[in-house]
Amino acid sequence: MTIKTVKTSPFEGQKPGTSGLRKKVKVFQTPGYLENFVQSIFDALGGVEGASLVLGGDGRFYNDVAIQTILKMAAASGVARVVVGQNGFLSTPAASCVIRKGKHTGGIILSASHNPGGPDDDFGIKYNASNGGPAAEKITDAIYARTQTISEYRMLEAPDLDLGALGEVTLGDMQVEIVDPVADYIELMEDLFDFDAIRSLFKGGFRLCFDAMHAITGPYAKAIFEGALGAPEGTVINGDPSPNFGGGHPDPNPVYAKDLFNIMFGPDAPNMGAASDGDGDRNIVLGRSTYVAPSDSLAVLAANAQVVPAYNQGLRGVARSMPTSCAVDRVAAAMKIPCFETPTGWKYFGNLLDAGRATLCGEESAGTGSDHVREKDGIWAVLMWLNILAETGSSVADLLTSHWRTYGRNYYSRHDYEAVDARAAQELMAALRAKLSNLPGEQFGDETVELADDFSYSDPVDGSVASAQGIRVIFKSGSRVVYRLSGTGTEGATLRVYIERYVAGPEGLNEDTQEALAPLIETAGELAEIAKHTGRTEPSVIS
Ligand code: G6P
Ligand code: ZN
Repeated sequence: MTIKTVKTSPFEGQKPGTSGLRKKVKVFQTPGYLENFVQSIFDALGGVEGASLVLGGDGRFYNDVAIQTILKMAAASGVARVVVGQNGFLSTPAASCVIRKGKHTGGIILSASHNPGGPDDDFGIKYNASNGGPAAEKITDAIYARTQTISEYRMLEAPDLDLGALGEVTLGDMQVEIVDPVADYIELMEDLFDFDAIRSLFKGGFRLCFDAMHAITGPYAKAIFEGALGAPEGTVINGDPSPNFGGGHPDPNPVYAKDLFNIMFGPDAPNMGAASDGDGDRNIVLGRSTYVAPSDSLAVLAANAQVVPAYNQGLRGVARSMPTSCAVDRVAAAMKIPCFETPTGWKYFGNLLDAGRATLCGEESAGTGSDHVREKDGIWAVLMWLNILAETGSSVADLLTSHWRTYGRNYYSRHDYEAVDARAAQELMAALRAKLSNLPGEQFGDETVELADDFSYSDPVDGSVASAQGIRVIFKSGSRVVYRLSGTGTEGATLRVYIERYVAGPEGLNEDTQEALAPLIETAGELAEIAKHTGRTEPSVIS
């Protein structure tokens, strides 16, 4: 087998976004496009001679082709060993788990997360470091810089490997170990949770409906819920991964997970519903006729974590992304533990988790996780809820409402304006930025602005600073409106508007969210002149 050195030239726009490089499949299929990016990762790491890497993806269209290319490039660059999930599959949290457990150099994850898949849809690739978490900005910046100067890449000329059979094979001088993508992950979950308690819950007739959305969590959910925990067959729906997610959009929200919402709000609903996204790191949780907002889920998990074996010593601290509601802040205050506010993007939790300053983290974008891995983790979140329900004997709805009675309720909603013109979106943000300094003291309905800024984060562990992370308008009452542009889309721009209002209770805790937020929603639209800039009078997704 020979190693080929192929001349190439840079492609524009290979800048990793919130979570890696995401583009249309067609873009990745441009000859040299994937190769340039992969070689840039290797080069930015200072070479990968002797390295040991984990490789896998969410099984979306092009996963199989990209895996073979990356394996041959790794072999050509002197990588000693690659652990790859069978058939090229690994959920994002499982990849994080495998990297950490095997003390690997890092890993490459192929996914565009919650974006749709198929020949006309999205693909993505990202590098995770030895802690199992998304590479820090200084590495992604170095990768990007390299993509702009790259002039050649290396590739082993070899036939494709059969990734269907478990075991060890060689590719050139490189060892390739094909592993069961679920094995290490289940073992970790068994360490964290009281599987006996959850088993008894199911034995007692508790019903769960887990919607895998034709994505990667299907095999994990079947092995864990229906296998290890004894839930009846059929607990997992849409459980077979497909390259285009059954034609759906694997983002667990009220719009795209409609099947699940219909079941949970319909007659004879199961006790709990949950769904995960394309690569298995997101989650949503529902009870009978009850949707748990992700920000509330984080707060409820933080408040009850002590009943779960892995967290029975208490939490060192919690962290949430800036646009996530302040519900968890109230739990942290009551527990007298620190609560960190970070920019959007799981990578910002990495240092806090590594330094032992935060134990649980979460984001409004349906992400919750802990220090057990360095990615958010959909199945973990479902197991947290199940373990807590098993210990407390409570229902999802009762746990949530009793949480509000104790801590008050942060009414919260996100309005997305998808695929708007990119320039119009930039102009909207610029216009808003320009008026921030005049806002404090201004009155909108019942609300008076206390602070308005463009969020900047200074990492308490390494001192690195991330600026321009979203515009916050905070009112004297504690209500907030936050604006930012999505970092994960592949078409135009997506404007996200996050709206939050705190009600201490005991009155007013059970209102409809959109109604409770209506005046603030109007203010949010006026402040940013959304209709004028985008031509849209309604958001495309409300969650
Ligand atoms: C990915 C990241 C999350 C982040 C989300 C934000 O899922 O893993 O950590 O919260 O993107 O997406 P956005 O589209 O709002 O930039
Ligand atoms: Zn995801």
